[in-house]
Amino acid sequence: MRTQVGIIGGGPSGLLLSQLLHLRGIETVVLEKHSREYVLGRIRAGVLEHSFAALMREAQVGERMDREGQIHEGFFIAHDGIKERVDLRALTGGKTVLVYGQTELTRDLYDARDRFGGVVIHGAEDVRPHAIDTSRPYLTYRVGADVERIDCDYVVGCDGFHGVSRQSIPNDKIRLLERVYPFGWLGVLSRTKPVSPELIYAAHERGFALCSLRSPSLSRYYIQVPVTDSVDDWSDEQFFDELHRRLPDEVATAMITGTSIEKSIAPLRSLVVEPMRFGNLFLAGDAAHIVPPTGARGLNTAASDIYYLYHALVDHYSKRDDRGLESYSERALARVWKGQRFSWWMTMLLHQFPDNSPYENRLQKTELDYLFSSEKALASLAENYVGLPF
Ligand code: APR
Ligand code: PHB
Repeated sequence: MRTQVGIIGGGPSGLLLSQLLHLRGIETVVLEKHSREYVLGRIRAGVLEHSFAALMREAQVGERMDREGQIHEGFFIAHDGIKERVDLRALTGGKTVLVYGQTELTRDLYDARDRFGGVVIHGAEDVRPHAIDTSRPYLTYRVGADVERIDCDYVVGCDGFHGVSRQSIPNDKIRLLERVYPFGWLGVLSRTKPVSPELIYAAHERGFALCSLRSPSLSRYYIQVPVTDSVDDWSDEQFFDELHRRLPDEVATAMITGTSIEKSIAPLRSLVVEPMRFGNLFLAGDAAHIVPPTGARGLNTAASDIYYLYHALVDHYSKRDDRGLESYSERALARVWKGQRFSWWMTMLLHQFPDNSPYENRLQKTELDYLFSSEKALASLAENYVGLPF
């Protein structure tokens, strides 16, 4: 088989790129290791910044997102028994975020690829990029006993943190810059009315907590736990008890608890791969960078990679202009690092760090004090939360 752009990974990054390129007459094939059901079974964050939503609309997949997604004009930070509001709209001159689950968004992208006759191959095992440092790269993969080959002009690695793309770049050609945090987030999804229509991020001496939601009847709650904990250590009752302890009384008493319909632990990690290109292999999304979920930047940072790469590929095919491809890594990384900085900062602000000295703990408290005493500091938080321009 031959295509123009071979895409490894059928998560949001790979599907969105494939859909956008299709609309501009550029052929793609997406190779996904897992089944569609498996991909759509993953529960991930769901806060979309303005530019991400715009890209979805450009890809003609924004209809349900606009109908069912909820516009959030602000969120709360709870600390010391109170909750304070960050008014995103007022602080950013009118910008907001859209709460729409990543699972739903991925479903919409799959539906669109079907509708437009896109080629997404599921159950592709042993996917491997070859000859990526030449002008004739190709991909091989296996379905059962059959090995297939796809020749392409470019390979795009959208295969997430554990993918094969990054690993196929020689070690001396890339650098991994990484920070691993000594805790994770234990998340529970429950079919209950969310305690607050707007998100509540809570800093507490027992650890961080977050009250989020997917819809008016679906809540998503998280608590910080040691990275060594497992889901089995936490019954639903224990989870909600601990969540209550970390929230201001008025929030805890208003909370409706219920049975979890999903429970998982995500370790917190920051990672950047530099550069995001090797020869004719381009990395995008989680394949190139990971952020802790605190600033809701994961998917949104993937979106800017896709935006730059999409335009670079369109310029290549329509105008033979390769400047976008040549500068992709540099441009993408400039925004990636801002997302890293913000996610790291939000994480430092709100979590308990077991190895922090009393001095560092006082600084952390002062950071919160400063934030809510300075309009400029809050505006900076808001500007980053709604998303910096591409
Ligand atoms: N071959 C083929 N597909 C693979 C391989 C492989 N060797 N390894 C991984 N994949 C697939 C995964 O099964 C997954 O469906 O690649 C996809 C990667 O998807 P994501 O991990 O969702 O990454 P991405 O599409 O970049 O999405 C951006 O933002 O909010 C964050 O982590 C969150 O997934 C989100 C990400
Ligand atoms: C979520 O709803 O899953 C969520 C929301 C905001 C975050 C992280 C996760 O910062």
